[in-house]
Amino acid sequence: MGNKKKKSQADTADKYDLYQRSVQEPSCEVIFFNRIFSKRYGRKPLLLREDFCGTSAVCCAWVKSRSDRRAIGVDLDPEPIQWCIENNFLGLKDEQRQRIEFRIDDVRTDAPDRADIVAAQNFSFFCFQTRDALRGYFQAARNHLADEGLFVLDMMGGYETFEEDRTERTKKDGFTYLWEQKRFDPITHHCKYHIHFKFPDGSKLKKAFTYEWRMWMIPEVTELLLEAGFSEAEVYWEGTDKDGDGDGVFRKRSHAESDPSWIAYLVGVK
Ligand SMILES: C[S@@+](CC[C@H](N)C(=O)[O-])C[C@H]1O[C@@H](n2cnc3c(N)ncnc32)[C@H](O)[C@@H]1O
Repeated sequence: MGNKKKKSQADTADKYDLYQRSVQEPSCEVIFFNRIFSKRYGRKPLLLREDFCGTSAVCCAWVKSRSDRRAIGVDLDPEPIQWCIENNFLGLKDEQRQRIEFRIDDVRTDAPDRADIVAAQNFSFFCFQTRDALRGYFQAARNHLADEGLFVLDMMGGYETFEEDRTERTKKDGFTYLWEQKRFDPITHHCKYHIHFKFPDGSKLKKAFTYEWRMWMIPEVTELLLEAGFSEAEVYWEGTDKDGDGDGVFRKRSHAESDPSWIAYLVGVK
């Protein structure tokens, strides 16, 4: 009695909520998918397949954006999908929830989906470590697209992403997000990352998420998209504001200036 330890902010933190608030902007993804698809095909994309969906934030934003849109979320791990049902679904109407379908499966498993957009966000495809494995995933993604369909990936890179132990801190409401580049192997491009969170009471949620990835380069990925059967592989590069920072507007480009740390979209056209 009396020695009950007061719980710290880290003890009561919800890692998926912190993750979503730190690294995801689902409404921006929806706007981007809509823009590039409408421009190419002259109509709105309706069926989205979100590979590596995790908490399926993009699926939720997608079905909210139009009443005739459907989404399929695919992830190996049932835990973030269950978190989505218990948390993200609270922000959806019943009929919106019914337009989302989940698959707890490997993204490479053959499925009858013929989506307008297949999306793989937050560098998730970096989990594939060899050209054969990545090409195999790209072939599966292509098979999950309708004849008029776009495969949208995002990538990070730049020479700062080769540095070890560099930690970026972004202060958010009530917590700090830390991205640690623990290991980068220049021979294999194998890399290890951790996401940590820090709280105003001094407590920390260490290694909330860990990733063992291969740091792919844009030319490797565009070549593999074409090898997997895509008819075109496009790169959308971010513009800059007057201070030289990324402005969040991505335009199709064939060349870009050297940049220490960039994020880009790659698009495979079926
Ligand atoms: C970096 S998280 C991405 C979550 C979310 N898409 C985002 O944009 O933030 C990677 C997710 O991919 C899932 N994953 C890893 N390998 C997979 C595979 N082969 N098939 C399906 N899901 C996989 C993990 O379970 C994890 O939820």
